[in-house]
Amino acid sequence: MKLLVVIAAMASACWARGTPTDPWSNVTGTSSQTFPTDVGFQGSVKYGAPPFLAQVDQLKTRKSSHNAPVEMRWVPLNAEQDHATSDDIFRNLGTTSPYHPADDLFPETHGYENVPKQCRIKQAHILHRHGSRYPQSGAGLLAKKIELAKKLGKLQASGDYAFLHHWKYQLGEAALVHLGAQELFDSGVKYYYEYAQLLEQSKKKPVLRTTSQSRMVDSARYWALGFFGWDMTDKAHIEVLTETLLQNNTLAPYMTCPNVFSPKALRILEWRAKAFGNAQKRLKENVKGVSFSKSDVITMIGLCGYETVSQGYSDFCKIFTKQDYEEYQYDDDLAKQSVFGFMSIGGRAMGIGWVTEFLARLKGTGFQGPQTTQNATLDSDPTYFPMHQPLYVDFTHDVVIQTVLTALNFKQLADELPGNHMDPKRRYRTSRIIPFGARLVFEVMECDDENGSTDYIRAKLNDAVVPLDGNQGCEGRKDGLCKLDDYMGFLEHHAYSMSNYDLLCQLKPDHNLNVTALLDGAILSNEQVHQLGKNPHHRNVLKHKHKLSMNSLL
Ligand SMILES: *[C@@H]1O[C@H](CO)[C@@H](O)[C@H](O)[C@H]1NC(C)=O
Ligand SMILES: *[C@@H]1O[C@H](CO)[C@@H](O)[C@H](O)[C@H]1NC(C)=O
Ligand SMILES: *[C@@H]1O[C@H](CO)[C@@H](O)[C@H](O)[C@H]1NC(C)=O
Ligand SMILES: *[C@@H]1O[C@H](CO)[C@@H](O)[C@H](O)[C@H]1NC(C)=O
Ligand SMILES: *[C@@H]1O[C@H](CO)[C@@H](O)[C@H](O)[C@H]1NC(C)=O
Repeated sequence: MKLLVVIAAMASACWARGTPTDPWSNVTGTSSQTFPTDVGFQGSVKYGAPPFLAQVDQLKTRKSSHNAPVEMRWVPLNAEQDHATSDDIFRNLGTTSPYHPADDLFPETHGYENVPKQCRIKQAHILHRHGSRYPQSGAGLLAKKIELAKKLGKLQASGDYAFLHHWKYQLGEAALVHLGAQELFDSGVKYYYEYAQLLEQSKKKPVLRTTSQSRMVDSARYWALGFFGWDMTDKAHIEVLTETLLQNNTLAPYMTCPNVFSPKALRILEWRAKAFGNAQKRLKENVKGVSFSKSDVITMIGLCGYETVSQGYSDFCKIFTKQDYEEYQYDDDLAKQSVFGFMSIGGRAMGIGWVTEFLARLKGTGFQGPQTTQNATLDSDPTYFPMHQPLYVDFTHDVVIQTVLTALNFKQLADELPGNHMDPKRRYRTSRIIPFGARLVFEVMECDDENGSTDYIRAKLNDAVVPLDGNQGCEGRKDGLCKLDDYMGFLEHHAYSMSNYDLLCQLKPDHNLNVTALLDGAILSNEQVHQLGKNPHHRNVLKHKHKLSMNSLL
């Protein structure tokens, strides 16, 4: 996938600008249209087989806890014994979990969802993830193994596993699926009811931004359809930012700032050595003729989610236990926290571009730097980066939202995740934070007080009110509100300097460089390195990666 992007970018560089087939001729800022939506750079996409749920759904249960158009009534294997429910599957699929409000993320702000009576919302900012999509890469290897065993007449699977005899991989690649369209449409409808009146304050059409990838443009359009209706093009502009190598884009920052290796990502190896053993053993016992690796197990658990959102139905869901799904969730938590979150070195640098834009919008001053991953040409043009919009909506990817949360210093989500066991009470779960259709919302409000009135801000992550506190320069109120001046002041003084953008993305040390802060929490202790080094496989990787990380740091 990444490689394809590189090749596409190299190929496009061969075209001279201005020729009729120039791939840049339709991009925002160059196109003859002010807000083109057909800009190219949609990434590589494939559509899968059409679903036929009416035919294939054989699940016999009348218990229906929700009204999803896809089959989400599966319960894990041994559900009764483990007291497991469907949520133990569909809320443990990491960033590929279908959207669900994060009702269990911040219990301490339960009861504070309503805006205090003395406050009036003036402005809202939404950073939104695209909806459910096909996988980015196929399950090729696994499908081939199973095909081969079938051809050789060696495959033997019975009971819950018998479906493997007629299973075929039928999914597409990277495109938004219908459930994803519904997630975004529903979100547009929801936020219409929440905020439609805000738009009465302004005569200008709001500008919603997204990237050029197929699922991103589709997500923005379905959201706009839900919010504005069929005549959405009369009511809003969709601004499509080019997502391709070397294009500055705060909604796709990895295109200009390659991520630095974070040593704590090695904990994923440690975790994989420990986890998925039960599932692998069960498969061995029940399926003859194929030898399944742990990475096949991970692919199959993932397929439960992907087949469900793409085909409406997945037989893989029923062959894994609650424990297997928990292990899968933890694997994803470790990956995202250690590469993009608070256990990473480069997370803040990737997220800082959007955070700087957010601050410019809060202050209403326009983009004044610092220059990081923004496209300064677009950001200094009020058509493309307007100020004083009552409602801002930007669409992006899961890892970008994660890096933005890191750059915003949301240490409320900074759980330190060990590699050798999972804490079932941890707060950090990617299914709560960056599932399909995730949204981070900020509300700016004016509240009456003894001095007349004061501006406040609060944040909601997938509907959960974030308890803003000292980590954001706030006093730490029960209702999560923070004085806007305190919030902006903190971001202004700390966010950029803590990001180490110049060093990590431009290889330029600057006066802000504080090596202690840079490595704070992001490197392994000697004891941890020692533990990892006991395993010969890990030892090799470790040697290699440490050299890599040092090279990219110095
Ligand atoms: C640019 O857009 C026009 C009109 O939508 C389309 O015909 C043309 O193929 C596009 N060019 C590129 C390079 O995408
Ligand atoms: C900035 O945006 C303009 C307009 O789309 C584009 O032509 C230019 O290549 C972009 N520059 C970078 C560095 O992303
Ligand atoms: C793109 O970003 C780089 C790195 O911050 C910066 O040097 C360059 O001026 C930017 N270009 C534009 C057009 O914003
Ligand atoms: C009201 O103003 C006083 C004096 O500036 C200040 O100390 C106090 O914190 C303000 N109260 C609120 C709720 O902002
Ligand atoms: C460097 O960072 C550390 C850890 O975050 C902090 O304690 C220290 O005060 C910083 N030093 C400077 C000079 O800012």
